Amino acid sequence: MIVLGIETSCDETAAAVVDETRRVRANVVLSQIAKHRPYGGIVPEIAARAHLDSLDGVIARAMAEAGVGFDALDGVAATGGPGLIGGVIVGVMTGKAIAAARRLPFIAVNHLEGHALTARLTHDVAFPYLVLLATGGHCQLLVVEGVGRYRRLGTTVDDAVGEAFDKAAKMMGLGFPGGPEVEARAKGGNARRFALPRPLKGRPGCDFSFSGLKTALRQAIAGLPPGPLADRDIADLCASVQAAIVEVMEDRTAHAIEAFRARHPAGDTLVVAGGVAANAALREALSLLAARAGLRFVAPPQALCTDNGAMIAWAGIERLRLGLVDGLDFAPRPRWPLDPDAPRAVGAGVKA
Ligand code: KG4
Ligand code: ZN
Repeated sequence: MIVLGIETSCDETAAAVVDETRRVRANVVLSQIAKHRPYGGIVPEIAARAHLDSLDGVIARAMAEAGVGFDALDGVAATGGPGLIGGVIVGVMTGKAIAAARRLPFIAVNHLEGHALTARLTHDVAFPYLVLLATGGHCQLLVVEGVGRYRRLGTTVDDAVGEAFDKAAKMMGLGFPGGPEVEARAKGGNARRFALPRPLKGRPGCDFSFSGLKTALRQAIAGLPPGPLADRDIADLCASVQAAIVEVMEDRTAHAIEAFRARHPAGDTLVVAGGVAANAALREALSLLAARAGLRFVAPPQALCTDNGAMIAWAGIERLRLGLVDGLDFAPRPRWPLDPDAPRAVGAGVKA
């Protein structure tokens, strides 16, 4: 079984060809970062136009690198949401057009499901398992019980964790995206110099909150001499904010492990997924936490943690194998929670 996967929900225009034996035959990712950087964040209209301009070429490149023609495909999968609606429409329409022209099944993939199932593409991971999904738009702890079967244990009540890194970087005058910048600058910094809060740490449950941390960081910066920040101060601020975020993530995940264990005593794996999983300090803390809990720790390689088409193609294969295909009348879903029955997080903002 070979599936073409298309990802356009944020700022990467991506297409990949993956087969049932878990071979990634091609994985082309065109980052739009340079187009958005001058604005310090992703501009949805620019993203949608850029997807429209480049998606055809990205798909053609993926097919050429995979060495297959459209007639070799068994299905076309595209991110159907959640995400920026303009980009999702471009990906879904293109996927449907190929599926219609070649009479192939079309599979609309939930972007979060793509991240959550990636561990099964890269490692032997059986259901059920626990996933920490840490991206620029989402921060959730989920039990993956099966394809399409997710139980949300916790979510952010305000910012996503990647967003927290991005906003922290912006306050310090660092570039976008902020996560990699903060991680690089934190090296050699003193994580104890600034006493930043650890929001929700020690409280029951598995929800996250980062807005208090943001405010505290702003105050810490305001207490420094006016003018551009010194490199030493940036390093110490970055180390302090990264330590606070990692400690919070670890605490919330520890609670989720307890809940996961109570529900699935035989469950044995903790997975981290999403762009923030690239953070080495976070990976280290989670791998130690998993070891203490007697769980296996799985972190897909970085290129498959940030947005890509392979995760969409793989989720497409998982769905296609179960006959879970969509009609050409599928309507893009800018909001699409993986666990619609999850209780609303207390004080929640707009994030699903
Ligand atoms: O999953 P992703 O590529 O896109 C979304 O679906 O959001 O995640 C992007 C996010 C950005 O917020 C970026 O700052 C963050 O992941 N990120 C990191 C690191 N690399 C990327 N955060 C912390 N440390 C990193 N090394
Ligand atoms: Zn993502």
